[in-house]
Amino acid sequence: MRIYLDLVTRSYLMSPPEHFVVEYAINPWMDTNAPVDTELAVKQWEGLRETLVRLGHTVHVLLPEIGLPDMVYAANGAFSVDGVVYGAKFKYPQRAAEAAAHRRFYETLGWRYHLASETNEGEGDFTYLPAAHGGLILAGHGFRTEVTAHAEAQEVLGRPVISLRLTDPRIYHLDVALQPLDDANIAYYPGAFSESAQKVLAQLFPDAVVATEEDALTFGLNLVSDGRNVVLNSEATGLAASLRSAGYVPVPVELSELKKGGGSVKCCVAELRG
Ligand code: ARG
Repeated sequence: MRIYLDLVTRSYLMSPPEHFVVEYAINPWMDTNAPVDTELAVKQWEGLRETLVRLGHTVHVLLPEIGLPDMVYAANGAFSVDGVVYGAKFKYPQRAAEAAAHRRFYETLGWRYHLASETNEGEGDFTYLPAAHGGLILAGHGFRTEVTAHAEAQEVLGRPVISLRLTDPRIYHLDVALQPLDDANIAYYPGAFSESAQKVLAQLFPDAVVATEEDALTFGLNLVSDGRNVVLNSEATGLAASLRSAGYVPVPVELSELKKGGGSVKCCVAELRG
């Protein structure tokens, strides 16, 4: 039996997809000709928000802005550790203005906010494991975040950053390839990473839940875990089974509309690490 030592109430930030459409394509999942049902997207997003609240977590809401259809992917706006915030600097101009909305949110919380000089997409490419090797940041590069941002994040946050190169364009952010399951362990799909990055992950996380290509492409790894409950896309039934055998409790949610923008559960949720 697993003992859930890491089970604490978490704080998250989400932004409703009231203005969600696919009007530009900046990743292979986005098709500007495929119709999007914005109303259904809002309903599914609300289901995710309610699930997190029902699990006992706090969800803050960032007001969506007209003209920023990808703002629903709130994970990309910043990355915080111990109340210190490393701001995002988006790769594509279509999303650039989202960073300022996130900045205002953190400033109202009174958290120390660092404006980034290097291109990085927040929690899309950064994650933190407080109990792994004394507190470790994992960071992706290859498609969005520049590797120079990894060094900048280490300077700002004072935690070691492990750089991992992503190699599959369908898996363009770290949070589609890898997520923490608790404070010390992860689930990941090795095929999304360079050979060297795979070696690094195998060395650091010998007990990881190793996922399949299907798990990744059904956005199963784009999950939010509180150390026990793992909220993940309902399409990812294979990964849900693996998580259950590893002692976690999968909590499936339907997010089909948001997959049309190239994201799922984790993309919609920024963790506020105070
Ligand atoms: N359409 C968005 C983009 O391409 C999706 C972002 C997904 N977010 C994430 N954290 N993976 O930027």
